[in-house]
Amino acid sequence: MNIKEKRIDHTMIIKPFDCGDEDLNEFLLEKSNNYQMELLATTFVFEDEIKTLAYYSIFNDSLKIENISFSSKNALKNFIRRLVPHPKRHLKHYPAIKIGRLAISKQAQKSGLGRKIMDTIIDYAIKQNERCACKFILVDAYKDALGFYEKMQFEYFSENDLNDETRQMYLDITPLINAQRAN
Ligand SMILES: CC(C)(COP(=O)(O)OP(=O)(O)OC[C@H]1O[C@@H](n2cnc3c(N)ncnc32)[C@H](O)[C@@H]1OP(=O)(O)O)[C@@H](O)C(=O)NCCC(=O)NCCS
Repeated sequence: MNIKEKRIDHTMIIKPFDCGDEDLNEFLLEKSNNYQMELLATTFVFEDEIKTLAYYSIFNDSLKIENISFSSKNALKNFIRRLVPHPKRHLKHYPAIKIGRLAISKQAQKSGLGRKIMDTIIDYAIKQNERCACKFILVDAYKDALGFYEKMQFEYFSENDLNDETRQMYLDITPLINAQRAN
């Protein structure tokens, strides 16, 4: 697929978009520009001549341990021990990038665009580490999209949000950076 992403700005007219979810449509068409102007979220679109095919919005964030509902203190300890094997276990916040929104138009779904976007975000997170540390990519994933994020190797923090409309998921960048260091 050879379409290029474009970062939105206030001069740009955003082309029609429908991913089947009203909130996600509304964000792109009515709110993304304000978020961009106020430096709250950066939005990128993929489009053809007449319509938007996909978009995503990202921003800097941190993983706040106190906001994650682990099933027990042991589960929390194990989580931190696994992710941060070196002696920084007292940290309560970890640097991250958050996928605020990600949506593919109904016509373009299941054609590999979601994966292409995820690869772009991961590449960006890896490169960002050259200047500013970033350990995780975070997302509050919609129930219907959980399978997609699982395919993209995202993991769940806990089972406590199993029945919620969205679930907190993360991708740890560290193994990807270590693999690059080894080459
Ligand atoms: C979920 C979404 C982002 C996935 O993007 P996509 O372009 O359709 O996905 P891709 O074609 O890149 O699929 C990549 C892989 O994930 C799988 N996949 C895609 N959507 C999936 C889903 N909802 N459930 C399970 N697996 C899914 C594909 O089958 C494919 O697997 P494969 O590589 O083994 O063939 C897109 O369908 C979408 O925007 N849906 C509506 C809005 C939404 O739910 N956004 C997410 C908000 S958190």
